Amino acid sequence: MSLNKGFETLRQSKVRKIEDILQRYLPKQKGRQKLIMEAMAYSLMAGGKRLRPMLMRETYRLFDGKSEVIYPFMAAIEMIHTYSLVHDDLPAMDNDDYRRGRKTTHVVYGEDMGILAGDALLNYAFETAFRAFVTEPEESLTIGRALGVLGEKAGIYGMIGGQVIDVKETGHKLEKEALDSIYELKTSALIEASMMIGAILGGASEEAVKTVEHIAGRVGLAFQIQDDILDVTGTNETLGKPVHSDEKNEKTTYVTLLGLEEAKKKVEENSREAIRLFKKLPGENPYLEELLIQLIHRDR
Ligand code: IPE
Ligand code: IPE
Ligand code: MG
Ligand code: MG
Ligand code: MG
Repeated sequence: MSLNKGFETLRQSKVRKIEDILQRYLPKQKGRQKLIMEAMAYSLMAGGKRLRPMLMRETYRLFDGKSEVIYPFMAAIEMIHTYSLVHDDLPAMDNDDYRRGRKTTHVVYGEDMGILAGDALLNYAFETAFRAFVTEPEESLTIGRALGVLGEKAGIYGMIGGQVIDVKETGHKLEKEALDSIYELKTSALIEASMMIGAILGGASEEAVKTVEHIAGRVGLAFQIQDDILDVTGTNETLGKPVHSDEKNEKTTYVTLLGLEEAKKKVEENSREAIRLFKKLPGENPYLEELLIQLIHRDR
């Protein structure tokens, strides 16, 4: 994402702002169970693109959202995403030793604490999001709707559901339709939650929230296909995680199914469709539009 220098500088300043928010919502490291707070901070503050909270905030701005209600939700979505990575890397799943440029949580803290740190981040995400009721009681109705979306998209009808099929199908050859259904759940669901929550809290109409869900679905699909591509063409250093993890685990991916060139076309196609739908939404956010374009050729 370094094609456009002005955009890149702005993106980095937005990442720093998100990291300040994350830091603010992390639990204090104290008590006999202090180790778990350390492991949570280790995985959450390791870096990463912070794409989901960024999409959430930018969608909130698109709909003219102005209060601080979005902050606990931004922290919550990144906690849930991070927990999904901590568990995804466990020996029982993808068995990877590096993430976000560091040894994975289970390698540093042990498998027991890796599992518990993931559980803790998931639970703490909801504890954090629930705080919005206290700080912004006049927004209770939209906060309630946003929490419903967060729960559903992270759960068995969303990310967890996708990871279940992904794990069950490991080692099997899949058709494109089956692969798409995994990607729509394991990756698109959290991206849908991010953008839908931004829209809901920003006061978007039901119809606009639906359109946002479709846009985010395409963004997520493109994002996961690019993740497959980078697993083959990237480097450990830029990605901060091991390349060739999919080959090691005998995963069917867009690259094994269609080849590199065709996979790249699918990233472009899905992203262009997302951008086409995005232009139909009310309101304007040129940064968000540019972000969707920049994601097509991301190298990390
Ligand atoms: C990795 O997500 C897992 C996928 C859904 C492909 P990211 O590529 O957003 O990981 P971070 O947050 O930047 O580390
Ligand atoms: C994982 O997909 C998506 C999640 C829900 C965590 P991958 O297994 O391809 O993600 P990476 O490549 O390890 O980040
Ligand atoms: Mg995986
Ligand atoms: Mg993985
Ligand atoms: Mg991957």
